[in-house]
Amino acid sequence: MTTITATTKKNLVLVSGRAHPALAEAVAKELGTELVPAETRTFANGEIYARYGDSVRGCDAFVMQSHCAPINEWLMEQLIMVDALKRASAKRITVVAPFYPYARQDKKGRGREPISARLIADLFKAAGADRIMSVDLHAAQIQGFFDGPVDHLFAMPVLLEHFKKQLDPDTVTVVSPDMGRVRVADIWSDKLGAPLAIIHKRRDPKVPNQVSVHEIVGEVEGRVCLLVDDLIDTGRTIAKAAEALKANGATGVVVAATHAVFSDPAVEVLQSDFIDQVVVTDTLPVSADKHWDRLTVLPIAPLLARAIREVFEDGSVTSMFDGAA
Ligand code: R5P
Repeated sequence: MTTITATTKKNLVLVSGRAHPALAEAVAKELGTELVPAETRTFANGEIYARYGDSVRGCDAFVMQSHCAPINEWLMEQLIMVDALKRASAKRITVVAPFYPYARQDKKGRGREPISARLIADLFKAAGADRIMSVDLHAAQIQGFFDGPVDHLFAMPVLLEHFKKQLDPDTVTVVSPDMGRVRVADIWSDKLGAPLAIIHKRRDPKVPNQVSVHEIVGEVEGRVCLLVDDLIDTGRTIAKAAEALKANGATGVVVAATHAVFSDPAVEVLQSDFIDQVVVTDTLPVSADKHWDRLTVLPIAPLLARAIREVFEDGSVTSMFDGAA
């Protein structure tokens, strides 16, 4: 019998949308590779076009996009890029969305609402994604919305490294700014060996972006409070929490958040006298006009690059986090 035998090797291909090219370049550098050139443009009527400059046939493709504003445009671009990879015969396609779009709409809070986070997962799947990689999902259960593997990465090791150098566990209290962050804040408190406090935050479901603090559970008087959150959007959650903490005797308020969404008026709100320091990562671009002296932006590229390498080499992403899940 005559057979044809092919010895194939795997090729990692990294491509990026236009939202945050600096992050994609940094990930490529960490991986010791280069981005595959992609021609992406927007037509006069808003439609998006994408085409790859090199063959992607049979490759293990990772398509990066950071979902900052205009979020719907960048989402559509990533979907189109996935579709182009699928039609160009990529063997496996991983959507790398460091900040998962629409993650906050993960359940029906009231009747007749959408579950947009689920819709996003369905869209990625329909476009041709085999797996998703994201950092600090707003709710871990979003992993279950996608019918396929989801690599849920945690920025905590990156942020923790920064704070471990400067905070004394004997004087720090880790604070969750709302009930949704308690589990994550609890892990921070274990890692730092510091006590935990929780803020009871209320929002009027009919008024977006407004926040009020009801009460603080836990000891904050005379303590340096480390507020931990997944994202800062308008900054009001953090600003209101910081104000309440200082009013209850906190000697300092420092903030650790993964995703710097920084919609207006976040930069103004976060420069409040109640906030001593804000530390975020660059999962989303933070433009020069959104920097101020008490803001630190830590690079997320090494974490993403390591996870991409683990996935490509069939290694272990879980091993990267040592109990942070
Ligand atoms: C809420 O559940 C989130 O974790 C953030 O705390 C919130 O979305 C931040 O929004 P903003 O900065 O507009 O208060």
